[in-house]
Amino acid sequence: MIPAIRGTHDILPGEIERWQHAERVIRDVCARYGYREIRTPVIEREELFAKGTGETTDIVQKEMYAFEDKGGERVTLRPEATPSMVRAYVEHALEQALPTVKLFSFGPMFRYERPQKGRYRQFHQLDVEVFGVSDATLDAEVIEMAAALVRGLGIGESELVVNSVGCRDCRPGFGKALLEALGDRRSDLCGNCRRRSETNPLRIFDCKVPACQPIVDALPHSTDYLCDGCREHFAAVTDQLKALDLDHRVSHRLVRGLDYYAKTTFEVLGSALGAQNALLGGGRYDGLVRQLGGPDRAGIGFAAGMERLVLAMPEGPGASTPDAFVVALGEAARPAAHVLARDLRHAGLATLVDYDARSLRAQMKRADRSGARRVLILGDDEIARGEVTVKDMESGEQAAVARAEVVQRVFG
Ligand code: HAM
Repeated sequence: MIPAIRGTHDILPGEIERWQHAERVIRDVCARYGYREIRTPVIEREELFAKGTGETTDIVQKEMYAFEDKGGERVTLRPEATPSMVRAYVEHALEQALPTVKLFSFGPMFRYERPQKGRYRQFHQLDVEVFGVSDATLDAEVIEMAAALVRGLGIGESELVVNSVGCRDCRPGFGKALLEALGDRRSDLCGNCRRRSETNPLRIFDCKVPACQPIVDALPHSTDYLCDGCREHFAAVTDQLKALDLDHRVSHRLVRGLDYYAKTTFEVLGSALGAQNALLGGGRYDGLVRQLGGPDRAGIGFAAGMERLVLAMPEGPGASTPDAFVVALGEAARPAAHVLARDLRHAGLATLVDYDARSLRAQMKRADRSGARRVLILGDDEIARGEVTVKDMESGEQAAVARAEVVQRVFG
């Protein structure tokens, strides 16, 4: 046996129905908010994420499945979707093709992280992005849609957290204030935080190491260092969230682990997920489109971890059961049983059939296990009379029905 790669997982029948349900609900919500679906490649140039996600992020520094392809090109499995979405937006000039560029996408992402509950090396995201709108009402609408998705999936207990990380103008000042506040205590931080304090001090807020917490808790808050524009924008976002009756908590620690964010950041946290409790996360990234070679356009979006959504969803209906199970009695009836199964399937009925010519008892047992509503029995006698014996598995009633009318009479 060659097992699956660590951190990857199969989604088996029995579980896949929950994924399909989640995807149906999400597609429906996205359509109601005006989003169009897009699918981009799983493999991209490494440079796209180095520039987009950011050189100082853990993702780019440690977690990318990057390699040189056979043509000598540096490529990578995508660790996230946002840079790909920006690339597609710019490459296809989507702002000319669509009235408002609101996009969503489903697909696998790859990060070489330490696997644990809710954290995988190949995982799946719903990714949502909007381009070209700077107004704070959009921030609130995007956040409200994220909350609507979680609610629509029946996930009861969750918390919406928001913050503003400022923009290119005010963030350097905040970074400086962080370093000043850290002062000598910098040497008490974990190695990761010390490294972060040099590359991107904001990221210190991401640290989960217990010894760092008292130090991190005493640090200044980004919202106290916002420039006028960022402060007004954030106030407008939180006011609009209130107008939309959306409960939220402002957390200065929500800085997000990717470099492109500017102004609003947000996450929805699930309660039943353990350490990996972020169901979704995102924010505004004005500046990224231009940085990746496009026009100067605003951007905002979020991504939800599909594994985490499915884990947090309540028990739902399981797999749908077949409409019919065709039983062949005797060798001679087997070809006719398959013709009957074909006819039922062409008429739109989910139909199973037995392949290995076992006894009536064995076939009936298998039919029962399948959950089929009706069993259609075809033996030499039935064929001679031009009939099929139909058994209703719920009532146990059994009746002979003309072969030519079976689809219409039984299932019509
Ligand atoms: P992210 O916070 O890195 O943001 O990931 C978003 C979500 O993906 C997380 O909240 C989590 O649910 C899920 N996720 C991340 N890593 C893993 C993993 N290893 N295993 C399972 N689930 C995981 C982004 O990816 C940004 N591109 C979001 C965004 C879109 N910002 C703006 N637009």
